[in-house]
Amino acid sequence: MSLTGIKPTGEPHLGNYIGAIRPALELTATYESIYFIADYHALTSIRDRAQFAAYTRSVAATWITLGLDPEQTTFYKQSDVPEIFELTWILSCVTGKGLMNRAHAYKAARDRNAESGAADLDAGVNMGLFNYPILMAVDILIMGSDVVPVGQDQVQHVEYAADIAGSFNHLFGSEYSLKIPTALIPAGTGARTMPGTDGRKMSKSYGNTIPLFAPPSRLRKLVRGIVSDSTPVEEPKDPDSSAAFQIYENFATPDDVKDMRVRLEQGGTGWGELKNALYETLEAWLTPLRARYDELVAPGSELDAILAAGAEKARDRARPVLAGARRAIGVDS
Ligand code: ADP
Ligand code: TRP
Repeated sequence: MSLTGIKPTGEPHLGNYIGAIRPALELTATYESIYFIADYHALTSIRDRAQFAAYTRSVAATWITLGLDPEQTTFYKQSDVPEIFELTWILSCVTGKGLMNRAHAYKAARDRNAESGAADLDAGVNMGLFNYPILMAVDILIMGSDVVPVGQDQVQHVEYAADIAGSFNHLFGSEYSLKIPTALIPAGTGARTMPGTDGRKMSKSYGNTIPLFAPPSRLRKLVRGIVSDSTPVEEPKDPDSSAAFQIYENFATPDDVKDMRVRLEQGGTGWGELKNALYETLEAWLTPLRARYDELVAPGSELDAILAAGAEKARDRARPVLAGARRAIGVDS
């Protein structure tokens, strides 16, 4: 069984689709799959109630629109599975603080404080951020996951989950033990990062994203605004130097990509024409999907029932694992 968590920290964008959503959905052909919205993970940074709710709903609606089948998979919100938070306490008690000190996200926060000359290296770090890897370990362990498809940046967290399960099994070894998971980096993930409108990696943190379900007028404006150099229309151009072309390659048919490459290299085709073609390609793909997304994201839509049914399935899996852990430690004898 394969499990993936998605942190709802913004509107999903084209880079998320190519780098994470599409490869994750392809895995359903090989594995029994569980997907969940890691909303309590996002609470380490979100402070706006409306935004928190909107991002969670937007991410859930996005995955279903793009092909996640809630019948064939298990799909839920982390916050709907209270068993996770009880097991988080139990596993916190078998996890060394030193392990958390070495976690990438926490170390990065301290490094940023050191760079900015802050006297307290822990300034701005809440306990949620510090304990984040334990909560993530429980997400994985409580469902009995075999593999966890993640990007390179999350591999350490999956190794922590394996370590924490190992400590628990060692300390409370009984007829009951937690299954040890492994990270899986889906083919193609991270191999190519998609650039954003300013040419850097498309990322919410750079504010250079093209959201998947932006209305057509906004989509057109964002595509028009992708950086390009000032090579005149008639001159030959290097397609690979162009952010718009790199995005185009991911969405146009191989024939259209080849054709556009030749035209740019020959000269006579301007960046504006490339951007028009990119916009048309994206719009043709997105028009039918946008209608479905708008339906799902609306308050009171069938999304509520989908998530409620997913939470029931998830809790059915989580309950026996938590019960086993409670027996193993002796709280239930
Ligand atoms: P962001 O950088 O916008 O905050 P996240 O860090 O939330 O995005 O990434 C969620 C997933 O999407 C990760 O698996 C990540 O590898 C993938 N991803 C994000 N940006 C890109 C990109 N520009 N190209 C390819 N994959 C991406
Ligand atoms: N930490 C992951 C991220 O930032 C999200 C996540 C939470 C997750 N729990 C998980 C991923 C369990 C895989 C498995 O993207």
